[in-house]
Amino acid sequence: MNLSVLKETHPLEARSALSPAAAKKLKKLGATILVESGAGAKADFLDEDFRSAGCEIVNTQQAWNADIVLGVNRPTSDQLKGMKAGSLLLSLFEPYAAKGELALCAEKKLDVIALESVPRTSRAQSMDVLSSQANIAGYRAVLEAIAHYGRFVPMMMTSAGMAKPAQLVVLGAGVAGLQAIATARRMGAAVEAFDVRPEVKEQILSLGAKFMDLDLGETGTGQGGYAKELSPEAKAKQQQLLTERLKKADIIITTANVPGRKAPTLITEDAVKGMKRGSVIVDMAAPSGGNCPLTEKDKIVEKNGVTIIGLTNYASLVPSVASDFFGNNLVNLLGLILKKNDSGVSKTLDLQDDIIAGCLVVHEGKVRFNQ
Ligand SMILES: NC(=O)c1ccc[n+]([C@@H]2O[C@H](COP(=O)([O-])OP(=O)(O)OC[C@H]3O[C@@H](n4cnc5c(N)ncnc54)[C@H](O)[C@@H]3O)[C@@H](O)[C@H]2O)c1
Repeated sequence: MNLSVLKETHPLEARSALSPAAAKKLKKLGATILVESGAGAKADFLDEDFRSAGCEIVNTQQAWNADIVLGVNRPTSDQLKGMKAGSLLLSLFEPYAAKGELALCAEKKLDVIALESVPRTSRAQSMDVLSSQANIAGYRAVLEAIAHYGRFVPMMMTSAGMAKPAQLVVLGAGVAGLQAIATARRMGAAVEAFDVRPEVKEQILSLGAKFMDLDLGETGTGQGGYAKELSPEAKAKQQQLLTERLKKADIIITTANVPGRKAPTLITEDAVKGMKRGSVIVDMAAPSGGNCPLTEKDKIVEKNGVTIIGLTNYASLVPSVASDFFGNNLVNLLGLILKKNDSGVSKTLDLQDDIIAGCLVVHEGKVRFNQ
């Protein structure tokens, strides 16, 4: 039984699915680990670092031919065709947007674990790459905003004058939003945050931010801790109230998402027109359509003097830590799959286990994901 770590091929991806430190932990489960040469290069991990962690460095074809293949992003169809029947892929897969690839994997008799489908339960927390990467993204998004903001963030008192703290607004206080609040507070910003799930108010206050009171006439608490879509009236009210409230903002980090839907529009074109010149919006919902219609995916644009950042992979901008966390999540998940035995180690996919049942989207020639 061998496992391989792929070299990611997407130009904007700097992470690898394992770090050398995570590989060392995986070795303890008894696995032989093959690493595609250069897999960690963009995250500052040399082939030599993986060798020292007990891994074998292999070429591309050998990596795709392993029994278990570990990647960060969904491979292309051509890459999937290079996997052998009966092998298992673990990666982010975006199964809701990959009907063709899911069918191809079923036809090729591959098993696929889509990491975004790991249930968000307490037991699965240590295996949840969405959370580990969103945490990093929330931190990095604040740094990106500050780098584009031409003024001070903390209050500064000097003999030459005084600068007020930046007014920073966070919209959507899930994993990324809460980390953005914490990071912005550490940087000295005055932070105000809003979420349609009123239960997060306490968490926002505990991080030293103010809760923005927007009376929408309804809440957005949905199932499993996620938000649900607001009614058209509440959506319009939110846009109207925010247009007024955002006039005073210097920096906005917006993260609002509703599972399975296009991201809601929170910041309209009119709201951007009303904002101060020099202010910055980081639209972290850019991958799912953006919280602002002026956001351009993977671009940084300026509209009416406002910088709008539409990057889609903040975790990749902190690649060594992100790979380390991603790898630790995989090691914990593989702990449910790899069983040590007399002849080494074997693979078991136990569908009675709610975590495996939740994230195994292709198994024994069948697509198990409901689109
Ligand atoms: N293992 C676990 O138990 C676990 C792990 C991770 C997350 N969670 C929970 O899952 C939930 C979702 O977290 P996420 O970060 O993936 O969320 P997400 O990325 O789906 O959405 C981000 C945030 O946007 C908010 N939002 C949606 N519509 C909005 C609107 N119109 N205006 C303002 N905010 C809006 C959501 O309420 C959410 O907080 C949270 O409750 C989190 O605590 C649980």
